[in-house]
Amino acid sequence: MPQPSVTEAAMRSFSQASDPRLGQVMALLVKHLHAFVAESRLTKEEWLRGLEFLTQSAAITDTERNEFSLLSDILGISSMVDVVSQPEGGTASSVLGPFHNHDSVLRPNGVDLSGDQPGQKTWLHGRVLDGQGRPIAHAEIDFWQNADNGLYPAQDPAQDPQNLRCKIRCDADGSYNLLTLRPHPYTVPTDGPVGALLAASGRNVWRPAHFHVIVSAPGYVGLVTELFPADSAYLDNDTVFGVRDGLIVPLQPSHNPKVAARFGIPTPFLEVNFDFHLVPQA
Ligand SMILES: [Fe+2]
Repeated sequence: MPQPSVTEAAMRSFSQASDPRLGQVMALLVKHLHAFVAESRLTKEEWLRGLEFLTQSAAITDTERNEFSLLSDILGISSMVDVVSQPEGGTASSVLGPFHNHDSVLRPNGVDLSGDQPGQKTWLHGRVLDGQGRPIAHAEIDFWQNADNGLYPAQDPAQDPQNLRCKIRCDADGSYNLLTLRPHPYTVPTDGPVGALLAASGRNVWRPAHFHVIVSAPGYVGLVTELFPADSAYLDNDTVFGVRDGLIVPLQPSHNPKVAARFGIPTPFLEVNFDFHLVPQA
């Protein structure tokens, strides 16, 4: 039985890694990849095809686009990493996605991001709280989403690079609010080897509509998450498996005259009320 000894030898070959965690992770990776080869009875042709797939993925990858990151997403690995690193007791995390930008501008709490562009006005508000429901003062929210045409600024030269994204600092009572637009479903990039794999597998290439949010506050574990409008398509078929319990939010019509007057918008507008819960750092 040469196979177990190949696996054992390959696992043992990492036992002298200078970083013990590297040795542990590589040994486990070898163990499970070998088990996959054995269980699937992978043929040489299939193995070569897999290598060719990785070569094509490398060829299309550059600083603007990472096909391996997309591969991780559509295999559900990115979401599994989220799940296993999620601390107990806080709002569920979700995938970061490829369109986060570190240089979003700090805007006042209560900013209107929607301006005069097309789309359904949506008032997003709530509080940032700890595990006991107590407000966390002055937490920072980093927010981004796609426009009414389904595109992010990075995909659409017609949009200002800062369109529909911002950072805001919550008030002392943990409250935040901003005026934005209803987000829309969009497809992952389909023009590379991952797209070909999705097509060959008969897989959906769409993500449900979502707001992206990162919440951070000193002394608390940072939260990277998404909020999904409850009436969006693809909630039960997200191609990167990012939808979690507790992150699906109703977009409800509101006739609140004070909010309408403050933003100078007609009623009804859409409203999302969502509280984020952060977990203290260990
Ligand atoms: Fe997104």
